[in-house]
Amino acid sequence: MKLKGKAVLSYGDGNAVELPVYSGSIGPDVMDVRAFGQTGMFTYDPGFLSTASCKSAITYIDGEAGLLYYRGYPIEQLADHSDFMEVCYLLLNGELPNAQQRRDFEKNIRRHTMVHDQLTNFFKGFRRDAHPMAVMVGVVGALSAFYHDALNITKPEHRALSATRLLAKVPTIAAMCYRYNTGLPFMYPRNDLNYAANFLYMMFATPCEEYIPNPVLVKAFDRILLLHADHEQNASTSTVRLAGSSGANPFACIAAGIAALWGPAHGGANEAVLRQLSEIGDVSQVGKYIARAKDKNDNFRLMGFGHRVYKNMDPRAGVMRRTCHEVLNELGLHDDPLFQLALKLEQIALEDDYFISKKLYPNVDFYSGIVLKALGIPVSMFTAVFALGRTVGWISQWNEMVSDEDQKIGRPRQLYVGSAKRDWVPMDDRT
Ligand code: SDX
Repeated sequence: MKLKGKAVLSYGDGNAVELPVYSGSIGPDVMDVRAFGQTGMFTYDPGFLSTASCKSAITYIDGEAGLLYYRGYPIEQLADHSDFMEVCYLLLNGELPNAQQRRDFEKNIRRHTMVHDQLTNFFKGFRRDAHPMAVMVGVVGALSAFYHDALNITKPEHRALSATRLLAKVPTIAAMCYRYNTGLPFMYPRNDLNYAANFLYMMFATPCEEYIPNPVLVKAFDRILLLHADHEQNASTSTVRLAGSSGANPFACIAAGIAALWGPAHGGANEAVLRQLSEIGDVSQVGKYIARAKDKNDNFRLMGFGHRVYKNMDPRAGVMRRTCHEVLNELGLHDDPLFQLALKLEQIALEDDYFISKKLYPNVDFYSGIVLKALGIPVSMFTAVFALGRTVGWISQWNEMVSDEDQKIGRPRQLYVGSAKRDWVPMDDRT
């Protein structure tokens, strides 16, 4: 972060305040408004459309150009040449691992995949049809009740151990949510399987017969996790940072991130896309739904389209579309009606002036649901899978925030539009 100059803000009767302008390594400069308080005013930016909440070296997005870099590496290169475990190491440590670092990192994760056996009791408190995200919020938040030995977030070794535990146990807990919904017994993790294969095993294996994960599907699932790993200061990551700024333990912060991710405008969109495609049903109905999306009097949104930052194609959507082809071809589902409908919907939307003028392109959620459904993962588990991939990003961002000397407890201000001071009114005097 380097000082580039200053901006001078004039306000009131000839007053002025100097606001430093800083540059990062790439991307837009920032105007430091911490001195803005001198004006007696606050900045006003609902949804933080023009506000940088922190400095970060983890992920870079160029929304206009449709670029996404993890620690400087383009997402397309990582999707083609890397895997989720390597990307986890990269996001957490800032550099690609060498062969020994990679082996040690993965071995350490594999040796933490089991959960305390008493944690299984938490599931019994939920109805069998509880949404997996409701269970994930509760059970991940409860992990702090089992790990009193490493909750001092000022100690790097405690943060590292908590990061390992979260990264290793979230897949186990997510799979347990699905097994509990279906009444199937929990499957213990297997340390001889890689991260993606182990999750598919815990989801779909049974104690009655051998389950051998399909390597093409494992690779596709691994890529889905990689594509979801981090994404700058999105709503759930900002939630994790804000929770962490109070000193809350990492398990509570990640549980807060899971809760924020659940919303249909955010991580819940992949589930909403599938439900919407099923509701549209047929290409002949696409025009009706496109018209609804364009109708200002209808709050209908075409799920999987648009993005707060990307005003070009989400680079993840292109990789996800390719992964869709691979999985559907492997499974002999290339004529999958939902996929054909999605391809047609994307084509029609991208030719429509409304979507072009508002720069609404397919985002990461548009195709991910179709891949997940083809993998046999139920729609209700889609956002839990998103959380599975994003946990490493949340942890990396939380770790960076805790270590940032500029960090203070997050405490936004407001523009008050309520009643000015007024006196209490006795009941008999009220109308
Ligand atoms: C994710 O932030 C991240 O990085 C998130 C994420 C991540 O990896 O963490 O990338 C993951 O959350 C992807 C987004 C998934 N959500 C959806 O697909 C839900 C559908 N999309 C919309 O809800 C919307 O596009 C948002 C929430 C994603 C972005 O909303 P913004 O930036 O607040 O934009 P907006 O709501 O102000 O919309 C701008 C205009 C509006 O029209 P006008 O009021 O200007 O006339 O575009 C319209 C909106 O009505 N619009 C849409 C639309 N999205 C925006 N119209 C129809 N369908 C849509 N999907």
